[in-house]
Amino acid sequence: MRDRVRVGVIGCGNISPQYFKWMATFRDLDVVACADLDGDKARARAVEFGVPRACSVDDLLADAAIEIVLNLTVPAAHAAVNLQILQAGKHAYTEKPFAVERADGQQVLELAAAKGLLTGGAPDTFLGGGIQTCRKLIDDGAIGQPIAATAFMMGHGPEGWHPNPDFYYQKGGGPMFDMGPYYLTALVALMGPVRRVTGCTGTSFAERTITNPKLRTGEKIPVHTPTHIAGVFDFASGAVGTIITSFDVWAHSCPRIEIHGTEASLSVPDPNTFRGPVRLRRPGDSDWTEVPLTHSEEVGRGMAVADMAVALRQGRPHRASGGLAFHVLDLMHAFHEASAQGQHLEIRSGVERPAALPVGLEPGTLDD
Ligand SMILES: NC(=O)c1ccc[n+]([C@@H]2O[C@H](COP(=O)([O-])OP(=O)(O)OC[C@H]3O[C@@H](n4cnc5c(N)ncnc54)[C@H](O)[C@@H]3O)[C@@H](O)[C@H]2O)c1
Repeated sequence: MRDRVRVGVIGCGNISPQYFKWMATFRDLDVVACADLDGDKARARAVEFGVPRACSVDDLLADAAIEIVLNLTVPAAHAAVNLQILQAGKHAYTEKPFAVERADGQQVLELAAAKGLLTGGAPDTFLGGGIQTCRKLIDDGAIGQPIAATAFMMGHGPEGWHPNPDFYYQKGGGPMFDMGPYYLTALVALMGPVRRVTGCTGTSFAERTITNPKLRTGEKIPVHTPTHIAGVFDFASGAVGTIITSFDVWAHSCPRIEIHGTEASLSVPDPNTFRGPVRLRRPGDSDWTEVPLTHSEEVGRGMAVADMAVALRQGRPHRASGGLAFHVLDLMHAFHEASAQGQHLEIRSGVERPAALPVGLEPGTLDD
């Protein structure tokens, strides 16, 4: 049995319970400390999830036993905290997006490379049973040659449920930066990198009204970012992609993700989950057929941290890499810029498709 990799967590807010819960299920991870600007939050999470030590960010980074630090801070702090983690000589895995600006993400990648450390970023939902089953079907030729992909994430914004929805309507917010990482990461994991994009964006409402019945009801929020983004893009493989992300749509009946091949079409499950269903439809079929999953759905956020830990011990590449997260950040910016500039943009960041997960992994393991 190899040594477990000791992990520290910075940022103990809303999403952190998901990570604490699921990381405890992986054999190679040992979460030993957590920190937050708000010490009470760190202490509360430590008690809730049995983390041995709640401490300051500085103390966590000074702990020589910690190898990977998981950064669950707010998007605006992601790059700065990642740089701190790397400067402390530790591998860094961050929630999405990898950074707000490309230049900040690039700096993180460069520092990691210079120090020989790993970086990675969410989402890791593409490692779940649903999307890994889709990956296997594609790799096994079930749809023939993939020729097109569509992705739709549309709704009417978070002001009906989120306690403080303001940031969704600031620069760096909007539906593409909020939800695009799930859709684009899944598409790149399934279809490979993107080489060219164009897009159109709209800002349909100058202000939004909070309809959450409990808090700030009726308050107006000014809108400073596009809220409907339609993107068209070429994968390096030659397949054509379409994506719409919107906070302006009341209702729709578009599927989340579909991949169309020369031989069949594939219905990909919600990329914001680790689950199925996966469905296939071949020429002549009168309906979609659900396909049994080849990989486990009983996994959750933090799976990519476990993959990074195994990669460290085995000396192999990790799947949810900084390069993948940066490519997705590059695409999200490019859709907005292409619209503003009225042209196609070549994408300079490239990334390999992350390796497919093997079939038949024991629960809690990620050995290849
Ligand atoms: N909440 C969700 O449902 C959800 C889902 C998926 C992804 N995410 C992502 O997870 C990240 C965190 O989201 P959240 O909802 O948990 O936010 P949150 O505001 O609830 O928690 C963030 C925590 O980070 C702390 N923090 C901020 N800057 C810090 C710094 N420099 N050093 C130490 N601590 C710092 C804050 O005090 C806060 O406790 C975001 O990037 C978000 O996009 C959230």
